[in-house]
Amino acid sequence: MIRDVSEERRLDGMRRRFFSDISHELRTPLTNITGFAAALEDGTASDEASRAQAISIIAKESDRLKRFIEDLLDLSRLESGHPDLQKESCELEPIASASAESLQPLAEQAKVKIHLDLPRDLPQVFADPHRLSQVFVNLISNAIRFNRPGGEVIVSASAEPTEIKVTVKDTGVGIPAEELPYVWGRFHRGSTVTQNENLEARGGELQTKGSGLGLAIFRGIIQAHGGRVWVDSTPGQGSTFGFSLPTG
Ligand SMILES: Nc1ncnc2c1ncn2[C@@H]1O[C@H](COP(=O)(O)OP(=O)(O)O)[C@@H](O)[C@H]1O
Ligand SMILES: [Mg+2]
Repeated sequence: MIRDVSEERRLDGMRRRFFSDISHELRTPLTNITGFAAALEDGTASDEASRAQAISIIAKESDRLKRFIEDLLDLSRLESGHPDLQKESCELEPIASASAESLQPLAEQAKVKIHLDLPRDLPQVFADPHRLSQVFVNLISNAIRFNRPGGEVIVSASAEPTEIKVTVKDTGVGIPAEELPYVWGRFHRGSTVTQNENLEARGGELQTKGSGLGLAIFRGIIQAHGGRVWVDSTPGQGSTFGFSLPTG
């Protein structure tokens, strides 16, 4: 058998790139954790206020690391082809409402309004309800974070003959056309910085930078359910992320 050397080189390059990406993602939080731990230990953080700040940064960065590792494991399970879905008959409306409700504090902080526009009589889907919550949370939290103060998020759904289509639309910064094909990629973070992201400097929950894995996980979940994903965006006006789920 002739081994395809160029294919092996390509896979090798991808593997190297993957490990280098992960190393970069881990480095910043770890640098902060060790740096502030050292400041506590050697007394550089001497007064009560700087000690409290150091502890809070250590806690926040540890949390970020934990979520990153969890997302990475989750994505690897989804991509393994054995996503272990716990499927049952699900109504989308309550799942979307509960997900939006859980993000209400974030939306308030960002001064963004969430509107739900799902027909009550949508057909049921045979799906994993926890995975569907994850889908709504990923899309709605992006739509809040990449929005602007006073902006909106609109979650809609419609029943087609063989599937349900769901869209999450925002009035945010949008995504440049040349970046659209890459939004699903692992660790991808776009070039656009929003006013709401700038709130990061002022602290609070908007401060938490994402892992860059949310949309990859979203796509993995929908594909594992036999559905499709898409995105549409106009820079300066907003983005719409959509997905379909087969119905019976
Ligand atoms: N609703 C949106 N509006 C504008 N850009 C978005 C939106 N959703 C995602 N993006 C872009 O796609 C990138 C990847 O999204 P995601 O995988 O959820 O990662 P994260 O949220 O951790 O940055 C984001 O960093 C952002 O640049
Ligand atoms: Mg995200």
